Amino acid sequence: MQRGINPRDVDVLLSDSLRQPLAYIVAHGDERIDSASLEALLRRRFSGEPLQYIRRRTEFFGHEFYVDDRVLIPRPETELLVETAIARAPRGARVIDIGTGSGCIAVSLQLARPDLRVVGVDTSVGALTVAKINGATALAASDVLSAFRRDFDLVVANPPYIAAQEMQQLAPEVRDHEPRIALTPGARGTEVIERILAQAKTNVIMEIAMGQESAIRELAAIHRYDIDAVINDLAGIPRVVVLSARGRR
Ligand SMILES: C[S@@+](CC[C@H](N)C(=O)[O-])C[C@H]1O[C@@H](n2cnc3c(N)ncnc32)[C@H](O)[C@@H]1O
Repeated sequence: MQRGINPRDVDVLLSDSLRQPLAYIVAHGDERIDSASLEALLRRRFSGEPLQYIRRRTEFFGHEFYVDDRVLIPRPETELLVETAIARAPRGARVIDIGTGSGCIAVSLQLARPDLRVVGVDTSVGALTVAKINGATALAASDVLSAFRRDFDLVVANPPYIAAQEMQQLAPEVRDHEPRIALTPGARGTEVIERILAQAKTNVIMEIAMGQESAIRELAAIHRYDIDAVINDLAGIPRVVVLSARGRR
């Protein structure tokens, strides 16, 4: 089934296929083009494939990242997690980014705070390959923290957090194209979060889903974490939770 697309996507794909900036497209509306390559790109877009996968790139935190269907497309709200980690990570801290995906958090954090030692982990080998393309230098395959004996000073994570039965309500563009493992961890939506809180011995800065705050507060209490802050995104939705491991030590 063909779906409607944003007319701007056509301009963006045209500018990509002509290798010219968007301004050129606007100024040269009457130029004749070989339409075959553009039509191939537009067919993919009309079939619902996200623009970022077709273009193989996206912007995050002022940097360009390579993306393909092995990784979640970085979302603007995740920039709040990066900002929070930049502001709160102790000097020289060893930081682990659990579920690094494209590496957008790990790379942005490392660039902004060269004093930190940031390691990105993921269970998806495809995601680790993409994170490496994006310049993440310290990477490991790990199911949450299970591959590590050593301690970290800070955990950052944007874990999969959508409850399995809510997957049907997602836009088809997300549900049918982005990796399922990046979206849902299981029936409750909190399965990976629970394991992070059970395994981490240190402070955690984590992105959560809309409506998940009270579940996170309960899990924090079970695992003896204090909640230092819950930070709203630009839409006013509680999005980033700062958890202190004080009570666990
Ligand atoms: C929501 S995506 C976040 C990707 C990236 N950090 C971002 O913010 O765009 C979640 C990531 O967690 C990974 N993941 C899922 N379960 C995991 C687990 N048990 N241990 C480590 N990583 C996991 C997925 O492969 C996916 O790359």
